[in-house]
Amino acid sequence: MRAADISDDISEVLLTEEQIHDKLAELATQVVADYDGREVVLVGVLKGAVMVMADFARHLPVHVSMDWMAVSSYGASTRSSGVVQIRKDLDTDITGKHVLIVEDIIDSGLTLSWLLENFASRGAASVEVLALLRKPDAMKVEVDCRYVGFDIPNDFVIGYGLDYAERYRNLRDVAVLAPHVYS
Ligand code: IMP
Ligand code: MG
Repeated sequence: MRAADISDDISEVLLTEEQIHDKLAELATQVVADYDGREVVLVGVLKGAVMVMADFARHLPVHVSMDWMAVSSYGASTRSSGVVQIRKDLDTDITGKHVLIVEDIIDSGLTLSWLLENFASRGAASVEVLALLRKPDAMKVEVDCRYVGFDIPNDFVIGYGLDYAERYRNLRDVAVLAPHVYS
């Protein structure tokens, strides 16, 4: 769906599909240069990172493998609970592998700092993070995110994989959810 299809539910379109694609192409170029021939395991964080993974990975002109983790820290709320729970673990052994975590958004950073520690303890050769979006609160927690698409204001956003109560993931753009939808 496009923003025009749900204009009553959004207060502002933050990023268009085209802006997102351009940014992912740019990040892909950086990643290829940085890894310089070393094969990477992309780990997507379900479900929000599905769109980022699909589009970012296809911009890469090199071999990668892909795996997925499902963790939850939000439930159906718009605020982080601080509790991270594994719902689906990796299928692959990442010992000695170069892991690039692909995330939709870093908000409090709790999910990511937990994941970074978890992956380091499994003996990965390196662990880096690529996040399409980052909110200002992310600065408050120690999260080393090597590749960031866009720094955005502290609003609850939806679209391009991001949901509110499981809806809006199929919106092509990233938009600010209108407060009347969740209040
Ligand atoms: P964090 O642990 O607070 O950094 O965020 C964990 C997860 O919450 C993210 O990966 C998203 O799936 C979700 N999240 C955070 N902010 C938003 C938002 O503005 N809209 C939708 N989901 C969000
Ligand atoms: Mg996520």
